[in-house]
Amino acid sequence: SGPDDHVIVLFGATGDLAKRKLLPGLFHLATAGLLPDGYRIVGSTPARSAMSEDAFRALAHDAVATFGRSKPTGPVWKTFEESLSFGAADPEDPGPLLAAVRAAEESLGGASRRLFHLAIPPSAFASIIGMLGDTDLPENAKVIVEKPFGTDLASAQALNETIHTVFDESQVFRIDHFLGKESVDNILALRFANGMFEPIWNRDHISYVQVDVPETLGLEGRAHFYEGTGAFRDMIVTHLIQVLGIVAMDPPVSLAAQPLRDEKDKVFEALRPIEPAHVVRGQYEGYLDEPGVAPDSSTETFTALRMEVDNWRWAGVPFYLRSGKSLAQRRQVITLGLREPPLRMFATELADQPQDRGNKIVIDFGDPGWIAAAFLAKEPGPAMRLEPATMTFCYAGSFCEENGLEGYERLILDAMLGDQSLFTRSDGIEHIWRASTPLLENPPPVQPYAPGSWGPEPAISDLIAPHPWHLPEPV
Ligand code: BG6
Repeated sequence: SGPDDHVIVLFGATGDLAKRKLLPGLFHLATAGLLPDGYRIVGSTPARSAMSEDAFRALAHDAVATFGRSKPTGPVWKTFEESLSFGAADPEDPGPLLAAVRAAEESLGGASRRLFHLAIPPSAFASIIGMLGDTDLPENAKVIVEKPFGTDLASAQALNETIHTVFDESQVFRIDHFLGKESVDNILALRFANGMFEPIWNRDHISYVQVDVPETLGLEGRAHFYEGTGAFRDMIVTHLIQVLGIVAMDPPVSLAAQPLRDEKDKVFEALRPIEPAHVVRGQYEGYLDEPGVAPDSSTETFTALRMEVDNWRWAGVPFYLRSGKSLAQRRQVITLGLREPPLRMFATELADQPQDRGNKIVIDFGDPGWIAAAFLAKEPGPAMRLEPATMTFCYAGSFCEENGLEGYERLILDAMLGDQSLFTRSDGIEHIWRASTPLLENPPPVQPYAPGSWGPEPAISDLIAPHPWHLPEPV
């Protein structure tokens, strides 16, 4: 059954995230009939950027028109638009927000639940949570907290304490939208619903793992957020390590929130502290000229690193992670490189035969994503010649993709339903920050790279030798 009636309060309502993902995502949920019968959305910002209800509705219209899959027309849009109102929120003055929430609740008949979405920079979390704590708004409410959760171990611990003075852990939904991606969720199905992958999913058969998320986008006017964040905190410590957790976790006893998160968090507990020597940090040329960027900024727009998971399943297997802005391609790809069979019985003397013979399992988790097994096959003909070949699963070949939800859509729905399975937990996040501490305390210098390139060479190739980044052509 669907969620109860909700008043959703969107803090950071005029921000990039709200425009790009949250407002379009909420409207898509409405279009798909997945929002509750009764819903209201209250946009909120600090008083200095407060706006009228009409202005917020116009902003939402533009955001949905620009970034949405469902276009803002017809009766569903009309209902959605009428659900939108605005209430400014300042830490010292919750009055306007309280009034807007009360009005929204009354219009729903007074029996709805509250969902707060903190789509604001980490530095603003504590004051907004403190402000909510000065009101009765936390009652019967859930709170979605955006990543990155803190900026290091101490701030993450402090933030957890602040949250817990106002909300019970059962009310807290720490969001990482990569965990809501259809093709990341499918990794659980691939591994645990099938007999053919899990037996080889360990150090005996897999020699390395890559989680590779290059982006073509640059800063997109987000200097205010990005300057205090950088690629490591924006992407690695959050999205890429969460994906690593799904790839590396042991089978949970069930997919319920507690066992699933217990097993994933055990991976984070086993992360070896990151050695700064195993990290390459880069900054694209031109970053310093972006509006809002300090002229001497050493914020990294690129990070590649080698991590290790010190447990029985993965000891000795390197996990290579890479993400950066203004790179040559936008991709989201996991590669598991399999060990070669013990004997090369196929002629290797022919120079043009494949030298990188290890089979690979490739999971592309960009929407809609695909999975491939890369292997060697005999080229038809009189000689035993090996050539690379691929077996591929793509969603469109097996499923109707129209039912798919994007990461934020799925997770906002789960939060309304009270399902925490795909949200991150404080202990897991603290383990990740703990493993990151040596790097944060002693970061290697940023190296320049050309926009549209693959990052700072040759450091990046040296880091992952002997295997290059494996990015097959998109299917
Ligand atoms: C966000 C980061 O969390 O994820 C952005 O802040 C990044 O910098 C984005 O571009 C990537 O997400 P997606 O869903 O567009 O691949």
